[in-house]
Amino acid sequence: MPTRAIPYLKTVVHLACLVPAVYLLQVYRSGSLALMADPVNYITHFTGDWALWLLLGDLAITPVRRLNNSLSWLIRFRRMVGLYAFFYATLHLLTYVLLFSGYDVPTALAGLQAGHLLEPWKQLKIIWPTMVGDVEKRRFIQVGLLAWLILLSLAVTSPQRVLRAMGGKNWQRLHRLIYVAGFAAVVHYMWLVKTGVRTPYKYAVVFWVLILARVAYSLWKRWNKPSAATPVSAKVAS
Ligand code: HEM
Repeated sequence: MPTRAIPYLKTVVHLACLVPAVYLLQVYRSGSLALMADPVNYITHFTGDWALWLLLGDLAITPVRRLNNSLSWLIRFRRMVGLYAFFYATLHLLTYVLLFSGYDVPTALAGLQAGHLLEPWKQLKIIWPTMVGDVEKRRFIQVGLLAWLILLSLAVTSPQRVLRAMGGKNWQRLHRLIYVAGFAAVVHYMWLVKTGVRTPYKYAVVFWVLILARVAYSLWKRWNKPSAATPVSAKVAS
């Protein structure tokens, strides 16, 4: 892939990642969302699905680029795809807080329009005990929150200047948590569905294949690394 093509491809990837959000907005504006049997459920599932797909897509970039040297440019898209996974996970979380938990959106908006800047916060305080109770009761929400918090920490530390401030090694160690986020997201899905629903297990298989690919690559690299004890002359001869 020629370097000068990367910015164009980045634009295409940006647009592709924004298509679901634009589609959701269009479904809302056209009135089709209101006609659905359960619009909140639709938005929750839509945003949850896209967050998971992009997260798994992000995890797939490293193993795919290792298949062939000519695919090394793919790494330039990893951060972007990860940030879009975080974006959809945040929409998903907001759907839970603002639409699922009984948050009074009209009152919060009316308050803002009337200049009461603390109204949204006041409304959040009203539903907070119910929400905390729900999180305590439902463990699939707890693992979902864990996944989101990890994605948040990765998003906050994603800029180059944070990388420089943290040092490459620390940054890399922190960003390996993306695998924990992927695991938590898959478990979140497995725990929320009724017994017999197979879809989350398909994602679990994808996740474990990606992990195995990573482990296999690390082992292969270790075995093929010239040992430090090997004399230089032997290395040259081989
Ligand atoms: C990275 C973070 C997360 C991912 C990838 C994720 C993904 C998903 C997926 C794939 C679904 C099922 C969609 C379907 O059935 O089509 C779902 C459902 C759901 N998620 Fe998440 N989720 C995440 C975080 C959260 C968080 C933080 C919360 C709440 C605080 C949450 C609450 C829910 C709820 C309430 C449902 C619907 C459950 C039901 O059908 O009864 N999720 N999520």
